[in-house]
Amino acid sequence: MTDHIQFSPEKDCLVLLDQRYLPNREDWFDVITTDDVCYALVTMVVRGAPAIGVTAAYGCYLAGREVQKDGAADWKAELDAKLTQIHDARPTAVNLRWAVREMRRIWAEAGDVSLEALLAIWLIRAKEIHVGDIEMCELIGTFGGPLIDEGDTVMTHCNAGALATAGYGTALGVIRGAVDQGKKIQVIANETRPFLQGARLTAYELHKDGIPVKVACDNACALLMKQGMVQKVVVGADRITANGDAVNKIGTYGVALLAKHFGIPFYVAAPLYTIDLETACGDDVPIEDRTPREVTHIGDHQITPDGVEVYNLAFDPTPNELIAGIVTEKGVIYPPYKENIAKMFE
Ligand code: MRU
Repeated sequence: MTDHIQFSPEKDCLVLLDQRYLPNREDWFDVITTDDVCYALVTMVVRGAPAIGVTAAYGCYLAGREVQKDGAADWKAELDAKLTQIHDARPTAVNLRWAVREMRRIWAEAGDVSLEALLAIWLIRAKEIHVGDIEMCELIGTFGGPLIDEGDTVMTHCNAGALATAGYGTALGVIRGAVDQGKKIQVIANETRPFLQGARLTAYELHKDGIPVKVACDNACALLMKQGMVQKVVVGADRITANGDAVNKIGTYGVALLAKHFGIPFYVAAPLYTIDLETACGDDVPIEDRTPREVTHIGDHQITPDGVEVYNLAFDPTPNELIAGIVTEKGVIYPPYKENIAKMFE
């Protein structure tokens, strides 16, 4: 699946498969303005770290188009403010920050460029990032596939699949890699409260691809592991810090602790640009605090009493000592992570 993020040259806009309504409805969302970009990111029309990065890259181009249409005298200041707005839409996934920084770097290098010329360069770069992401995920599959054995049941948490990337996926890239390498395996998708990325999205795309998948409630994890139903865990990451801690969807840390307890290898799969060398450890990563409504309601139905407060922290850091390996497009990084991550970037 690669058509869930499309740039339409006819409409000069980004067209996204609206992930809020999957698996029940395949609705499409046109992203035209900077506010559309931020709305799509914040409400999770599009979500998953690499998909957020690709959207942000096109988003910078769309912000420039909007500034051009506005015809403001000081286009540079207006564009700068819009890039900051996109940069700040979600705090945890480093890919969003990376994409906006990449566009800013290109702008700085282009020097005294016209807005029209800058837009042409940005669109080419956004398309490269888009296509490059699929290639990186396929390589993650090539390197990660051999970690999975014939007959394994692989547990995953959240959705780190095609929908969370430009295609193929990171954690699901490892699973697809194993399947493409001829192994018969099955997947347990943790449902991933409250947004249900596992129940709705991971199950949707694996089922579509004919890869056997069963959805489990998040709180079934310990029992399933104890009963020997899980041989490997593979998850994605929104940010991996310089010491190898991996920040991923809330609940991942608990899954990793349980995997350690039961002696099950726990792998993280992510492209190298998810590794944030500027941040020392997972506890230093800002954790997104999302709207309480995602917890208090299921659809339009309220499930908590009026006036009761809830937690809706969206991510948690898994300490590196719980991670058996980090699968990237350049190969698998093993402990000691600080040293081996640094070597990977040499
Ligand atoms: O809040 P989300 O749905 O954007 O969170 C997504 C995740 O936590 C994914 O596991 C992560 O981004 C890796 S995606 C390849």
